[in-house]
Amino acid sequence: MPKLLIRDLQQVVSPAGTGAPLRGNALADVDWLDDGYVLCDGPTIEAVGRMSELHPLGEEVLELSGRGLCAVPGLVDCHTHPAFGGDRLEDFALRASGASYEELHAAGGGILSTVRTTRGLGEERLRTVVERHRDRMLRAGTTTFEGKSGYGLDRETELASLRAIRSAGGVPTFLGAHATPPEHADADAYLEFVLADVLPEAATVAEAADVFLERGAFDEGQARRYLTAARGFGLSLRLHSDQFTESGAIPLAIELGARSVDHLEVTGPDGVATLAASDVTGVLLPASALFLGRPMPPGRALVDAGAAVALATDFNPGSAFCESLPLVASLAATQLKLSPAEALAACTVNAAHVLGRSDRLGRIAPGYAADLTLLDAPDWRYLAYHLGGDLVATVIKDGSVAWGRPAY
Ligand code: NIG
Ligand code: FE
Repeated sequence: MPKLLIRDLQQVVSPAGTGAPLRGNALADVDWLDDGYVLCDGPTIEAVGRMSELHPLGEEVLELSGRGLCAVPGLVDCHTHPAFGGDRLEDFALRASGASYEELHAAGGGILSTVRTTRGLGEERLRTVVERHRDRMLRAGTTTFEGKSGYGLDRETELASLRAIRSAGGVPTFLGAHATPPEHADADAYLEFVLADVLPEAATVAEAADVFLERGAFDEGQARRYLTAARGFGLSLRLHSDQFTESGAIPLAIELGARSVDHLEVTGPDGVATLAASDVTGVLLPASALFLGRPMPPGRALVDAGAAVALATDFNPGSAFCESLPLVASLAATQLKLSPAEALAACTVNAAHVLGRSDRLGRIAPGYAADLTLLDAPDWRYLAYHLGGDLVATVIKDGSVAWGRPAY
């Protein structure tokens, strides 16, 4: 494979430094070059610099014009639910006329209605569905996505979901504790089944386990049991936390050494301070808060307190039917009061950290993956500024054009 030179880029912008996660003032530090180039050697970035300093390469190199484009690292979506059948259009319409997400869930709609449509799909169609969602994420600039199971809640469909996510190139997370399906008497009985009959094989495909710790889903004791068992199989731990109620997720995550707590829409000052003093990353999902008409998570307070934060779409049919991290970056700026630079780090290097991949993903620097998102904009901060805009011109994944217009 010849090297790929992306030349004449308006700007090349990357979170600064080498470590992860970035927090405090470091979250806003970017390396910023005008009139730059990026040279990719196969799947790895070889060099980054100014055009004026580009020496003749003297070997076979494929050149791509970046004129008028700004390069940022390929975006990393560290929280999505792409393995589902059907949609939740009816819930959406009912919510528009006043029903709440929790009411729909309690009435047997919500997550369990998607479980019914997902169980009928079969592995082949699940694969097609996940690939379709992956392609839409790619067109929005996402080069790496995490995907959760959690709409099967039986052995066959959970395992098929995880395999479909993995075969589509995603990072699979076992969300076996998402809801209790109707064939089990209660949440404890369901957990008994999941831990004995599904987790051992799920752990051979998934990298992490996740639990919906919430009133009406799983309580603190059940979450502890599920996560402790998952950790015993070598999985990293994630929690859906503080979406509707503060139910003890942050202390539990810290105690168990979880990678992240995700949502945090109702996290109060104590939770903010506790999380900020820990190694657990807070994953903010403002598209979900917007879609459900819920309060926004305390993004500014978390960053100011020194917490490690990431941003993700939470793409799913019920609470966030949205594949776009650029839209999430806009919400981060307008609703969470993060600067564009903070938003960039949160959906690149810090999101990569949540996935255990920050040594290779989330920066434009030599040795990192040649994953780049090229924005059709005069300034990279359009990433957050252009609300819902048609912004992504070209996406490079592993040193090749994965989507967009290849202007050679
Ligand atoms: O992250 N809150 C729990 N799980 C998903 C929503 C799932 C659904 O509504 O289908 C979330 O918001
Ligand atoms: Fe989620």
